[in-house]
Amino acid sequence: MGMLFSNYQVKNIILKNRIVMSPMCMYASSEKDGRVTEFHKIHYASRAFGQVGLIFLESTSVDPQGRISVFDLGIWDNLHVQGLKSIVDAVHNGGSKIGIQLSHAGRKAIVEGSVYAPSSIRYKEGMKLPIEMSYEDIKRTINDFKNGAIRSQEAGFDVIEIHAAHGYLINQFLSPLSNKRTDEYGGSRENRFRFLKEIIEEINSIWNGPLFVRISASEYHPEGNKIEDFIYYAQMMKELGVDLIDCSSGAVVPAKIDVFPGYQVKFAEKIKREVNIDTGAVGLITNALLAEEILNNKRGDLIFIARELLRDPYWPLRAAVQLKENIDFPNSYEKAWTEILPINNNAIYQRWYPGKES
Ligand SMILES: Cc1cc2nc3c(=O)[nH]c(=O)nc-3n(C[C@H](O)[C@H](O)[C@H](O)COP(=O)(O)O)c2cc1C
Repeated sequence: MGMLFSNYQVKNIILKNRIVMSPMCMYASSEKDGRVTEFHKIHYASRAFGQVGLIFLESTSVDPQGRISVFDLGIWDNLHVQGLKSIVDAVHNGGSKIGIQLSHAGRKAIVEGSVYAPSSIRYKEGMKLPIEMSYEDIKRTINDFKNGAIRSQEAGFDVIEIHAAHGYLINQFLSPLSNKRTDEYGGSRENRFRFLKEIIEEINSIWNGPLFVRISASEYHPEGNKIEDFIYYAQMMKELGVDLIDCSSGAVVPAKIDVFPGYQVKFAEKIKREVNIDTGAVGLITNALLAEEILNNKRGDLIFIARELLRDPYWPLRAAVQLKENIDFPNSYEKAWTEILPINNNAIYQRWYPGKES
């Protein structure tokens, strides 16, 4: 068996394969109150039937003023737990593990009212000028992440991922381009890391499960954070007990990025090698052979797939066909997949007619 369909253990959780559905905002919370809808349940459960090992819920906001859009999912109130639990149950019923991405958009929030950031610098023309966060705002937001983790645990999620990428609030603290503070949350690299550090510490004070952090490993700007800075941050995160760094890039400031299949894998590879921490590779990975290559050459430990899983919820089954892997799939779909998957026909026959000769 190749690597893509091998198990992956992180803390108490075993994933049946290395395929991860990357977090993707669905803008489908219809009441603008952050609640789960029928769409979400069917959307995520479909990818479980498609045999994705770990399914990440989209960026889910710990504070209503931290929403990327008013149609985002929320986890800022106890009333969100029940709906989130219904997604967790649906995905578990489909045989996959499920993670949640906890986030706050900071100056990139598109909501009514004030938006907040480490410094009062807008992301770009036409976007709101954020209010510089006070010490109390910082402490309250760290606590919002902790409460989000408590509710994630209540809802039954297997993994928590902190969204520290794509120019959202935590990334705004990390980046010298958006953080011009002169207190202990700004200035040096150590100070810019403090906000994320305290969030990790607070989450880990109540959460024993796997903790991932998504980063933007390059800001594509001469004065922004570089991969060397992220090697430092990753080392700190390893010491704080983070299990995996999910390596994305960009969106901190507007920039032109040259994209091609696997264009961000180099970040996952470098951090894995230099820091000796597990990493996730993401970005235009649509071919199972590329995924195998990344895993075989130890350039990453998990393969995050986003848009391809919107196009095809059954991508893992297609990958199994391409790699000639014998994998499990829902009994109800057998008539379709037995023809093209290299499975043992007798085993399938026995499921339908137990005890009879095929
Ligand atoms: C519709 C859509 C929504 C997204 N929402 C999120 C999100 O909520 N959180 C996040 O970290 N990345 C988000 N992303 C980025 C993806 O997770 C992924 O990193 C990116 O699309 C590159 O992977 P791909 O080439 O496999 O699509 C989103 C991407 C898309 C297409």
